[in-house]
Amino acid sequence: MSIPQQLRAQVDQFVENYPGFQQRSKEVSRKIQEAIFAQGEEGREVADVLHGKQVGHPLHPILTDITIGSWTLGVLFDFLGLLTRSRTSQKAANRLIALGTISAVPTALAGITDFSGIKQNAAGHAAAHGIINSVALFFFWRSVRVRAKGNQLSGFYFAVLGLGLMTFASWLGGDLVYHRRVGVNHTPEKKIADDWTPTLPAGELVSGTLHRVDVEGYPVLLYKHNRKISAISAVCSHAGGPLEEGTLQDGCVECPWHKSVFDLQDGHVVHGPATYEQPHFETRVREGQIEIRRWRLGMDESPIESEGSSSQNNQQAADENA
Ligand code: FES
Repeated sequence: MSIPQQLRAQVDQFVENYPGFQQRSKEVSRKIQEAIFAQGEEGREVADVLHGKQVGHPLHPILTDITIGSWTLGVLFDFLGLLTRSRTSQKAANRLIALGTISAVPTALAGITDFSGIKQNAAGHAAAHGIINSVALFFFWRSVRVRAKGNQLSGFYFAVLGLGLMTFASWLGGDLVYHRRVGVNHTPEKKIADDWTPTLPAGELVSGTLHRVDVEGYPVLLYKHNRKISAISAVCSHAGGPLEEGTLQDGCVECPWHKSVFDLQDGHVVHGPATYEQPHFETRVREGQIEIRRWRLGMDESPIESEGSSSQNNQQAADENA
């Protein structure tokens, strides 16, 4: 067994066998989400920023770069300062350790917000990641405090302790993403419907309901409202939730698993924890069949002339289904 394999097995064993750890982690995650939702629309908008909705992928890993980079460089300058007795290196170390400690606050907030919508099978591992990072933050905070009192050597020792813990927590964080697929896009990668592709007889799509169809092995969510048919991927980009089981809200669908909200017209993220949009499709009705075609950049400028526009065909679908 390789070292990462052994380490992963040890962590799994702890998370799964330590009494109540996994369950408590899920409960804490749920309670944080409830606290966010209790703040209404404003709470969700703040959470969206911390999830990374505006960035287009999770914000937390971007912020960790600042924190990890500052702390790591700070300890390196510390080491250099101790070796060479360079005051400049010591000053640089103090500033970098302080910067890392300050930046750890928004980094942790983004992480806690992501934790509120964590996949259930990753809650225990994410909690372990957060707890170890919190202890690391405590050591770095102590390091800043003792440096301010002129005790450079104690500051160095605290920082080294913090760096060790942070390194392990970072490995856990990487494992969450690359092994447990937290924060990655879960919509199927397969590209379908390069050209118009039939999906469902128009008469079978009931207005105001969500309907999942399989198109070339790809799950597509169809929805008709106000004589318009829309089509997006039926698999939630956040963690793979089934959007056909979601709740309709003003032309949007809320995922049943962690409550991400997507616009049904173009699949964009209205509310996180998702940060990736749902792939969406153009629609039309031909010979009684709802057809879809994968949306690509520039399509809006090139409407289908020969076959009629989507809205015209949606009108036809409505008429056929009336
Ligand atoms: S799977 Fe998490 S919000 Fe959809």
